[in-house]
Amino acid sequence: SYGTSLPLTDFEGVSLVHFITDNWENIKNFKARPDDILIATHPKAGTTWVSYILDLLYFGNTSPERQTSLPIYLRVPFLEANFPETPSGEDLANKLATTPRIIKTHLPVQLVPKSFWEQNCRVVYVARNAKDSAVSYYHFDRMNMISAEPGDWNTYLQRFMDGKTMFGPWYNHVCGYWEKKQTYPNLHYMFFEDMVEDTGRQLEHLCSFLGLSTSTEERKRITKGVHFDAMKQNKMTNYSAVPVMDFKISPFMRKGKVGDWKNHFTVAQNEQFDKHYKEKMKSTTLQFRTQI
Ligand code: PPS
Repeated sequence: SYGTSLPLTDFEGVSLVHFITDNWENIKNFKARPDDILIATHPKAGTTWVSYILDLLYFGNTSPERQTSLPIYLRVPFLEANFPETPSGEDLANKLATTPRIIKTHLPVQLVPKSFWEQNCRVVYVARNAKDSAVSYYHFDRMNMISAEPGDWNTYLQRFMDGKTMFGPWYNHVCGYWEKKQTYPNLHYMFFEDMVEDTGRQLEHLCSFLGLSTSTEERKRITKGVHFDAMKQNKMTNYSAVPVMDFKISPFMRKGKVGDWKNHFTVAQNEQFDKHYKEKMKSTTLQFRTQI
């Protein structure tokens, strides 16, 4: 009853489109290399932001032409993407000539191809508070022609809470990687809110996790280049080359803020959401900020 034009299937408790599950054998058997870096997120948590940061850290100086000729989603392939008329993410990743390969996934931790863990790959997980994630995802689903019809905001929010938005439930996603971190030291868990508050500091943490001795000057340059306004203007990072996205409805680089949920949630929705959230998150130590 969600009025979806592109139905989502329940795949082992995760909401996915059939394009992804159709290619499951290839995704499942993906061969990671020890130096691969996996950027994992629930959608809308800052994937593109961190993808661009990592790409600049590794290749900003050695191959500057990358920055002006290749859109970010070709530099950092989306592992499980398998949409009509475009090469699959797993295929793009296999053909990627860079070392390291930087690969993006929205898969929840239990669906990540096991070879990433076996190879002890570094994993960067980015998390964003649930309310802003839901709002950002709603606008994305409105403008993206190959995602399920979002319906109205109230319906969408309910769907998000029910875990029926793609890659959902959000709750299990953020908690799953949080738990993984306890037993898998090569996972760096970061927050969108911290990035907005102080990008430079988060960049410093990232460099130390990755073992990079990037100079202060270089870090400053990167921090400037990955600012929301810069990325919104940049044709290689703003997704403007993607034909299935209608920026007249909503741009990919929409607001980039913490707390935009306040412009969407009614008082009643907020109360209901908080109650449900408390229940869903009662057994985790994971804490989010919904304002900074
Ligand atoms: S996706 O489709 O899952 O890969 O989307 P993702 O890149 O994870 O998330 C998109 C949201 O991140 C915001 N964004 C940024 N915010 C601040 N600064 C920078 N540089 C930045 N880059 C991307 C983007 O605007 C989306 O959030 P909303 O709230 O919709 O603006």
